[in-house]
Amino acid sequence: MSESFAGRKVVIVGGSSGMGLATAQQVLAGGSSAVITGRNPDKLRTAVETLSQHGEAWGIAAELTDRAQVPELRKKLAAEHADASLLVNAAGIFLGQGKLDDRRHRRR
Ligand SMILES: NC(=O)c1ccc[n+]([C@@H]2O[C@H](COP(=O)([O-])OP(=O)(O)OC[C@H]3O[C@@H](n4cnc5c(N)ncnc54)[C@H](OP(=O)(O)O)[C@@H]3O)[C@@H](O)[C@H]2O)c1
Repeated sequence: MSESFAGRKVVIVGGSSGMGLATAQQVLAGGSSAVITGRNPDKLRTAVETLSQHGEAWGIAAELTDRAQVPELRKKLAAEHADASLLVNAAGIFLGQGKLDDRRHRRR
C-alpha cells in the first residue's frame, strides 16, 4: 500500500471476510486503521480481533439489504468515525461461479 495512505482511516463495507478482509489487512499493514462492516456480528467480532493484532480496527454490524439499517450505519459512521477519509465497498455475494482464476485466460 502506498505510503500516502499511512495514518488514514479507511471504511471497508463487507470487511469481515474475503476481499474486504484482505483489504483491511493491507490497510493495517500500510499503517492506516480500518472500520469494517458485515452482517454477522460474531464473524465481524472475530475479524476485528484478528485485525487488532496488527493495528487499530473497529467493526459495525449492518444488514445492507434492510433499508432501515443503512441510515443507522451511516449515523454510526458519522458519529464514531467522521475522521475516516477512504471508503471501500466489498460487500456482496458471489453467485454461481468459482473464484477469479486467470489460468483460463493464460491458456489462450
Ligand atoms: N472473490 C472473488 O473472486 C470475486 C471476484 C469478483 C467479484 N467478487 C464480488 O466481490 C464481493 C465480495 O466477494 P468476497 O469473495 O470477498 O465475498 P465474502 O467473502 O462472502 O465477503 C462478503 C462480505 O460482505 C458482507 N456482506 C454480504 N452481504 C451483505 C449484506 N447484505 N449486508 C451487509 N454485509 C454483507 C459479508 O458479511 P457476512 O459474511 O457477515 O454476511 C462479508 O463481510 C461479492 O459481491 C462478489 O460477487 C468477488
